[in-house]
Amino acid sequence: MPASTSTTLSAPKPPGPKGYPFVGILPKIWRNPLGFFQSVYEECGPVACMGLGKFTLYLVSDPDSIGKILQAPESEFWKGEGLKAAGTVMGEGLATSHGEKWIQQHKMIRPAFSRSQLEIYMKPLNETIDETLAIFERLSTQQTIFDLPEILNQLTLRIICKTLFGSELGERQASQLCQAVLIAIEYINHAAWSFIPIPEAIPTPKRIRFKKAMKQLDDLVYSIIRERRESGEDDSDLLGQMLKARDDQGQAMSDVQIRDEIMTTFVAGHETPANGLAWMFYLLAKHPMIAARVDDEVEREGELNLQNLEYTERVIKESMRLYPPAWIIVRSPKKDTELCGFSIPKESPILMSQYVVHRRPDLWKNADEFNPDRWLPENSKAHHRYQYFPFGGGARVCIGQTYAMMFMKLIIAKLTKEYQFELPQGQKVTPRPLTTLLPKNLKMLVAKR
Ligand code: HEM
Repeated sequence: MPASTSTTLSAPKPPGPKGYPFVGILPKIWRNPLGFFQSVYEECGPVACMGLGKFTLYLVSDPDSIGKILQAPESEFWKGEGLKAAGTVMGEGLATSHGEKWIQQHKMIRPAFSRSQLEIYMKPLNETIDETLAIFERLSTQQTIFDLPEILNQLTLRIICKTLFGSELGERQASQLCQAVLIAIEYINHAAWSFIPIPEAIPTPKRIRFKKAMKQLDDLVYSIIRERRESGEDDSDLLGQMLKARDDQGQAMSDVQIRDEIMTTFVAGHETPANGLAWMFYLLAKHPMIAARVDDEVEREGELNLQNLEYTERVIKESMRLYPPAWIIVRSPKKDTELCGFSIPKESPILMSQYVVHRRPDLWKNADEFNPDRWLPENSKAHHRYQYFPFGGGARVCIGQTYAMMFMKLIIAKLTKEYQFELPQGQKVTPRPLTTLLPKNLKMLVAKR
């Protein structure tokens, strides 16, 4: 049944799993969020309600309803109050702002992610990846087991840093920035899953570390903005684009707004591709035949011929199906709503989990199997637009989607051309769902080809 909005709650409440007294389903979410949400879908169907103390959450796993929610105007469904923790870092940037403010910001930032602009970011992108190849060179000669997600995280952080500030940023400043961003993200991850919030006034060690990192970040970012304004350089990096942008009234962005957009780009733009890549290398190491097809393609097409790396693109898509780096999206209805014939009261958090929908056995043949060929046009043409939504959808769809696909492809191509990745014997890797989906325990060995 399609999603529709109404002002009354005449429809029945959706079914839901049994919870514990007072805390509801909280212990189950804590123990194993992914397994729990999958079981809720299996037991309760496409719309379910879950008690969490005095709150009720809704899990929607029906592609039609997901599409309608994501494509609805903000006057019907909005991002809700759940972004407070992220807002402490990102302020009112593109990911956290609402209404007219978001419309204006989106208009101003959009050109910085146009195809022609992305081509300009290719140079610093290539340089950064080449610098990282030296790390793999060392690891391959030492033959030591290393933490792949950590290295990829550093790499994507460097990429975002260079995309934002070009090659001019000194090594020391870049390291300080990256270090502070990591502390800030660790805090957001921690805060996002603290269902019992500790009052703001209590200076926990994590909070003290976070505040120090934020002060350092702010000082650095504002000084970079100031220097760039003073030098008057018309740079083609992302910061240059933000300084150039004008709204409908011809107004430029303030320093605070630019600071918020810089933080947003750091937070939204580095951990997701890092985790996406880490899962891909994991899956390739487990599927040597598929890895061999990627190698052949890169060998044949060359690593810079990105648009011709079709099989590699299918591998990326399939990997993000099984392990979507953004594994959950939340929206709240502004009015009482009906979805699939069930009622949802206004302002309730509606969870839509890519992890759950991307693995629904009735939507995907052999849903748990890693099969890039399911993305061949003839095999995917019948897919519902919202049975796969790693980058979200509607107006708030990921603005960095094309850029992320570009640089993930480039990294895979450059790395697989030179190196072969192996999982050590007995390695048990599990998904750890924080703000993004981390591969826990992903240690690897790398050998030169
Ligand atoms: C594999 C990589 C990535 C994935 C899986 C991903 C996923 C997503 C998703 C699912 C959303 C929508 C969230 C929602 O609707 O609540 C989103 C939004 C966003 N992403 Fe990405 N993202 C990726 C890479 C990037 C990159 C590289 C950048 C920037 C350089 C970026 C910047 C943003 C921004 C600014 C938003 C907010 C857009 C808005 O609300 O208008 N993302 N991303």
